[in-house]
Amino acid sequence: MSEAQGSVSLRRALAGADEYLSRRGVERARFEAELIFSSALGLSRIQLYMDLDRPLTPDERERALELVERRGKREPLAYVLGEWGFRRLTLKTDARALVPRPETEILVERALALIEKLEQPRVLDAGTGSGAIALAIADEHPGARVVALDSSAEALELTRENAEACGLEIELRQGDLRGRIEGEFDLVVSNPPYVLPEEIETLEPEVRDWEPREALVGVGVPEALAGRARELLVPGGWLVVELGEGQQAAYAVFVSDLGYEAVTITPDLTGRERVVEARWA
Ligand SMILES: C[S@@+](CC[C@H](N)C(=O)[O-])C[C@H]1O[C@@H](n2cnc3c(N)ncnc32)[C@H](O)[C@@H]1O
Repeated sequence: MSEAQGSVSLRRALAGADEYLSRRGVERARFEAELIFSSALGLSRIQLYMDLDRPLTPDERERALELVERRGKREPLAYVLGEWGFRRLTLKTDARALVPRPETEILVERALALIEKLEQPRVLDAGTGSGAIALAIADEHPGARVVALDSSAEALELTRENAEACGLEIELRQGDLRGRIEGEFDLVVSNPPYVLPEEIETLEPEVRDWEPREALVGVGVPEALAGRARELLVPGGWLVVELGEGQQAAYAVFVSDLGYEAVTITPDLTGRERVVEARWA
């Protein structure tokens, strides 16, 4: 290992970060250390590997270590990196909104399949957060007219920044999805808060200690949404909702009782039941 006096090679810095993050309970510590160094140095992971023996400049080292320390406090990797991939988009991510999850990509896939044949579907994303769902739909169905609603002003600020950065036009509205919402929609889609208050302590520190509480915990919010969506959906319009593990069967019964039909549950990529969709009669 060739190291100039007092400087540390990338290889050694990565090994140190791997060890530091492992000790702090980060599961894929080496992989995450590489992502953090890639981000701090502005290099791809391949480029890191091609230059492992190069010494880090003091600036590079400081930048990387600051991010490693943040991750060591179990701040979500997506917040530390400041951006995260979601379907075809790269979204800005920070503590104003939930980190978009891979399982939510399944929700988007189902939503897109249901509006595929409509030229200009009217879509409501209820509880938009970073804007992941609303923006992915606008991106993948260019005719879609998407309204992104959230009760959090901070989250909507992030949605706006993401819409601008992605060059996508969506309408932003601040409001309560349980309250009055203007408009008629072919699709109401949502990843609502569905964690029960008593479950919060069982969650990983990244979620429990860092993500906005109002994005996570919501008693009765998915149910209130199904009720509200009856007034918003055109006949034959679709409600598509992501839920926590084990909540789907009861929700399917609940929406059937409300008068929805063609109720279907779709699993996520790990085979866990995840998304409930239902057609308003
Ligand atoms: C689980 S997060 C989902 C964020 C984003 N849609 C995603 O999938 O990554 C739920 C979002 O709903 C918002 N929210 C919570 N309660 C709400 C309510 N009653 N009305 C409107 N938005 C609400 C939160 O601020 C948060 O942004």
